[in-house]
Amino acid sequence: MEKELLNKMIEDTDNAANEGKQFEGETERQYYYMNLCKAHVYNEERRLGRKLTACINTFGCQMNFHDSEKLLGILREIGYVETDSEKADLVVYNTCTVRENANLKIYGRLGYLSNLKKKNPNMKIALCGCMMQEKEVVEKIKKSYRFVDIIFGTHNIFKFAEILYNSYGKNKMITDVWEGTTQIVENLPSIRKYKFKSGVNIMYGCNNFCSYCIVPYVRGRERSREPEDIIKEIENLVADGVVEIMLLGQNVNSYGKGLKNEISFAELLRRVEKIEGLKRIRFMTSHPKDLSDELIDVMAESEKICNQMHLPVQSGSSRLLKIMNRHYTKEDYLTIVKKLKEKIPDISITTDIIVGFPGETEEDFEETIDVVKQVEYDSAFTFIYSKRTGTPAATMEGQVPEEVIKERFGRLLKVINEISAKNTDKYTGQTVEVLVEEENNHDESLVTGRLTNNILVHFKGDKSLIGSIVKVHLDESKGFYYMGTMVEQ
Ligand code: 5AD
Ligand code: SF4
Repeated sequence: MEKELLNKMIEDTDNAANEGKQFEGETERQYYYMNLCKAHVYNEERRLGRKLTACINTFGCQMNFHDSEKLLGILREIGYVETDSEKADLVVYNTCTVRENANLKIYGRLGYLSNLKKKNPNMKIALCGCMMQEKEVVEKIKKSYRFVDIIFGTHNIFKFAEILYNSYGKNKMITDVWEGTTQIVENLPSIRKYKFKSGVNIMYGCNNFCSYCIVPYVRGRERSREPEDIIKEIENLVADGVVEIMLLGQNVNSYGKGLKNEISFAELLRRVEKIEGLKRIRFMTSHPKDLSDELIDVMAESEKICNQMHLPVQSGSSRLLKIMNRHYTKEDYLTIVKKLKEKIPDISITTDIIVGFPGETEEDFEETIDVVKQVEYDSAFTFIYSKRTGTPAATMEGQVPEEVIKERFGRLLKVINEISAKNTDKYTGQTVEVLVEEENNHDESLVTGRLTNNILVHFKGDKSLIGSIVKVHLDESKGFYYMGTMVEQ
């Protein structure tokens, strides 16, 4: 950047600030702060004689990974160079708090960051994400981790540039955490990890208050984006080379409620399907209580929606499901699965299961095993119940002893693994469409792709195939993935 140009930019932005500039909207306001940061970074580069680096470390779910793409978009706009190393000028931790382990991990790593900061006094440390929405966490960091520079939450990640700018040149911790918001800020920059696929938020927050879950407290109430904004974003992504999108929300099945013109998730899918050039549509997460027949029909008719449904069951015991506040019974759940399998043959069903919810008896647990056997999940994420302060379950009687949980967990995993290996095997010998995603980590002559049901296949091919959909013969099942041969490009 030319120096005069830069000085002019600083002058313009300063004048704007002095004149109490009115911005047309939040997006314009944030671009203004990105420009101010850009000028700062430029000056620092000249002072230090090198580029400034930034490292974002993401913990938790798809939603957080997608948020990190937005943070990275802002940092690139400002002029930081991305690095995987935490020996950087700016380190951002986008945190998760869904289970206690996630929190402990962050505290552990902060000790390491403090040593790095001693060696690089210019270094800035920023913490954001779900964990920062908890008051006790912020208090603890203020008290015991005073070297942290910036703390912000899930509701104001769009303000990252503004917060960062305010922290430049200061040695004081800046904390900006909002309790909630109704605001959705559109059209900020974002950098995709993959050129050919992308996550797309369709809604934020959760209204369900499952009794074990902290998410509604840290992500706030449900807010849906306008369908036009979603479609526009996907059209732009497709124009930029994306062929597969993952529509993201804590409970996509209740998408559209509260919008001026209410629309169902199924209707949104119909509209997304029409986008030319888009090849594959995935979504997560579906709550069984809101899964409509209309959605199943749309999936059955669709050419683009993948044969995959992530449908967290949490427990197979109707008694526990009630205490979990899930609003369905074991029978309701099995009925939905039956309909899905009838209307969409070859659908892959995956789930989340919690073991050791307070009061879980051997009989309750056996109900869970029974559901796993009846549904025959392609894969299941299993979690040991983690007590989250502030949720109703945290104070419930009958917390299950650790040894009992461990024993049940082991038994459950064994059943799940046997079933998913058997499931994977059933496609051996077929020729299927595969989206090529990356070079194989272990063998450069191979590439790795995904079937529409999300299973991985490795086959001979070179990286020029990445991003295209090819036909692959599934030669052999290896339990959770296939080895195959490409038959058509
Ligand atoms: N303990 C264990 N697992 C939990 N999950 C959410 N809260 C908890 C908790 N307190 C799991 C649920 C959810 C997934 C994202 O995390 O299974 O579907
Ligand atoms: Fe948590 Fe339940 Fe909301 Fe999922 S639906 S985020 S488990 S409260």
